Amino acid sequence: MKDRIYCNQVDISQIGSTLTVAGWVHRRRDHGGLIFIDLRDRSGILQVVFNPDINPEAHSLVQEVRSEWVLKIDGIVEKRPLGTVNTQMDTGHVELHASNLTILNSSKVPPFYINEDQKIDETLRLEYRYLDLRRERLQKNIRLRYEVVKFMRDFFDKNGFVEIETPILIKSTPEGARDFLVPSRLQRGSFYALPQSPQQLKQLLMVAGFEKYFQIARCFRDEDLRADRQPEFTQLDIEMSFVDEEDILDLIENLYVSLVRALTPNKKVTTPLVRLSYEESIEKYGSDKPDLRFGLELATITDIALDSKAQILHNIANSGGLVKGFSAPGCSEYSRKQIDELIEIAKDCGAAGLVTIGIEDGGSIDGLEMGQVRSGLAKYLEIEEVKAICSRMGAGRGDLVLIVAGDSLIVNRALSVLRQEMARRLDLMDSDVLSLAWVVNFPLLEWQPDENRWDSPHNPFSSPKDEHVGLLLSEPGSVTAKQYDLICNGFEMGGGSIRNHKVDMQKKIFELMGHSEEQMYSEFGQLLNALEYGAPPHGGIACGVERLVMLLADEENIRETMVFPKTQSGSDLLFGSPSPVDESQLKELGLEIISE
Ligand code: AMO
Repeated sequence: MKDRIYCNQVDISQIGSTLTVAGWVHRRRDHGGLIFIDLRDRSGILQVVFNPDINPEAHSLVQEVRSEWVLKIDGIVEKRPLGTVNTQMDTGHVELHASNLTILNSSKVPPFYINEDQKIDETLRLEYRYLDLRRERLQKNIRLRYEVVKFMRDFFDKNGFVEIETPILIKSTPEGARDFLVPSRLQRGSFYALPQSPQQLKQLLMVAGFEKYFQIARCFRDEDLRADRQPEFTQLDIEMSFVDEEDILDLIENLYVSLVRALTPNKKVTTPLVRLSYEESIEKYGSDKPDLRFGLELATITDIALDSKAQILHNIANSGGLVKGFSAPGCSEYSRKQIDELIEIAKDCGAAGLVTIGIEDGGSIDGLEMGQVRSGLAKYLEIEEVKAICSRMGAGRGDLVLIVAGDSLIVNRALSVLRQEMARRLDLMDSDVLSLAWVVNFPLLEWQPDENRWDSPHNPFSSPKDEHVGLLLSEPGSVTAKQYDLICNGFEMGGGSIRNHKVDMQKKIFELMGHSEEQMYSEFGQLLNALEYGAPPHGGIACGVERLVMLLADEENIRETMVFPKTQSGSDLLFGSPSPVDESQLKELGLEIISE
């Protein structure tokens, strides 16, 4: 549109000039006589005034205009009269006095307000996503996402990387989820799998000699959806040759810290990033992706529980279970209802229950008496035992101790969720802080009792630490991997490893995972074969793009960072997908639907 300028480009330097703007009606106010239109375009909002005395024709035309109609307006920029300046708006010192109006399109009444930031039923938002996307919140998030990806591209370009696209129609590349399958028409009965990540492809590119690869890669995983998970998402995917763990950690730390400082200067990151071993992370926080914005560290008290007269604690400790907990400061006066809510959270995580011990305020822990201890187990506990628990957990007067006992997996899971819950209640989660950190030294393999085999907690291509190679056959469970995860505020932001570039090591790991020679070649033959042609040592990482945008934009759901996301049940409400297909399409593919 010739001579058109964006709404927020209009400022006091243009007073007196005639110009053209175009956009949507954000708001319309009829002051009997004067009609005001707040016109919105991609840049912002400009107030336009229609005066019947100056241009009766445009004034009469604008009478019928409603919210979200599309207008082109010519007018003269004027200074707003004294007392009507709006300092909240970029263009709040000026207004456009309309001389000509063209209605480019009308609009039905939208199903929700575009111009107000209010809570809207999400089904409606997703059904009319193109209108939802017009709202300021999503406009901001989607642009921020673009800036994030642009920053990444520029960063890797400067560092000598090559961006390479890898295929989407491929064969299973397992990352622990189910594959999405695509039936082949040309080879009936055979299927492609959509990549859960480009893992094997990027390793093959290292064998191919590209040395520094990156990709903004679409990944597809058929798994249960959560607030931070979509079936289709984007990774920043990286692989490099002739590197060790430190090279990758340095590079990614540098990227994240510079990106956050450039794009969201209000967010605080502390360098160098904290590093936790997997073991330490589980021990202190019960999780391998703890939120490190606050303390509330866990402490194990299995030894104290072993001597307890409280049977419930003693029996679990005695039968090899774990007894562990933490102290919530200032919560000793929690009501029955508040405690019951916490018990429910523990139970939802699979725990049998939750023991709480409230330590009455006043005095020191040394002077504590049983009469000042509030607990369902009070009559079985002895004062020395309570003091020992307090000392282990750093609990003082006025605090509430939370204890979970049982199987270690469940205890850690429940305590990590309770820790997060207490931090929320105590307002310890500062959204301006990004507690980026590395978790390292993951176990290479974990025993799967149900399947009677070892499995890799991440991907099977990670290599063991050099000093642990000797233990691979004798003690596979104590081997740690050259594996690292980037975490932030309770989310896993990325994960990667140094890979097995020697075919024998890769095969040994597959073998421990229960693959026969035949199975490993049928699933991973392409990679195993390639490793035999001079594969360089290599490693990499992949980071979730949407999860990063979520944190930068202060969003709690990944859907707010995507243009057309899926619902919890995997539906696209706008397109109505997934949907049945024509009988003829099925026939061509040699498929038949078996109704339930
Ligand atoms: P991983 O499976 O850990 O590693 O994935 C890397 C990162 O991708 C993001 N992510 C997701 N984001 C949104 N929705 C999902 N369903 C989802 N799943 C994962 C997370 C995660 O940390 N090939 C390996 C990487 C490597 O070893 O180089 C991989 O894909 O932020």
